[in-house]
Amino acid sequence: MKNKVLGLLTVLLTGVLFIAVGVLTAADVPDKFLIQNEGYAADKKGPVEFTHKKHTADHKVACAECHHVFKDGKNVWKEGDAVQKCKECHDPNEKKGNADKLQNAFHKNCKNCHKDLVEAGKSTAAPFKKCNDCHQGAS
Ligand code: HEC
Ligand code: HEC
Ligand code: HEC
Ligand code: HEC
Repeated sequence: MKNKVLGLLTVLLTGVLFIAVGVLTAADVPDKFLIQNEGYAADKKGPVEFTHKKHTADHKVACAECHHVFKDGKNVWKEGDAVQKCKECHDPNEKKGNADKLQNAFHKNCKNCHKDLVEAGKSTAAPFKKCNDCHQGAS
């Protein structure tokens, strides 16, 4: 009898634990951070503050606009998959295969989206022209 109760408790607790872990993973997306890679030939413009959570929650940008793993020309990354640093595929100093060098990968991703939004009249605030709207200056 005692064992049965214990067994049931274990099952219940394991369930609770699973839910807790699930929530943790979903909340694991960092709120905001500095993009500050090392390895550039010269660090001319300095780091960029990026509002990760605001981009997904308020600006409604889908994860796969920024995160990808290409297979046969298609992005097969989906939410929940591990996220590699951009730098692991985009080298800071040279284009490798189809993967642009890191600075260009960031500029294409960040600036192009903002530019398209502004040009479509959907935003006036998304920065793409002034370097220091994103960059914090060389350290
Ligand atoms: C929409 C945001 C955004 C704008 C606007 C922008 N950049 Fe960047 N840029 C980035 C990000 C993000 C990185 C990656 C930073 C890192 O890895 O340290 C980067 C990296 C760089 C780098 C390589 C790292 C370094 O600091 O030397 C250079 C050079 C650079 N940008 C120049 C410019 C110049 C010049 C302008 C203006 C004409 C500009 N950027 C405008 C987002 C932006
Ligand atoms: C507008 C672009 C953008 C969007 C949208 C975006 N991310 Fe990110 N995310 C980034 C950048 C940039 C990094 C930092 C990559 C690096 O350091 O090389 C990052 C990092 C991460 C990391 C790694 C954090 C760490 O500490 O290493 C995870 C996990 C992640 N993103 C998950 C998500 C999920 C899940 C979504 C959708 C709910 C999402 N991201 C939406 C740009 C984005
Ligand atoms: C697993 C390796 C890998 C990672 C990690 C990765 N990329 Fe890429 N990325 C590639 C490859 C390969 C291509 C070229 C795809 C093609 O055209 O075949 C590419 C293409 C791009 C492009 C141009 C195509 C497009 O989607 O518009 C941009 C911009 C880009 N990456 C930005 C980023 C940013 C920003 C990050 C980090 C948040 C990142 N990449 C992380 C491998 C990667
Ligand atoms: C697919 C679209 C998209 C991509 C990719 C994207 N952004 Fe944005 N970004 C937005 C939108 C939408 C806004 C809100 C514009 C407005 O308020 O009118 C924004 C606003 C911003 C702002 C203004 C302050 C803020 O946080 O709201 C900064 C700075 C910024 N983005 C930096 C970046 C950087 C750095 C990257 C690349 C790592 C990036 N963005 C990638 C869509 C994007």
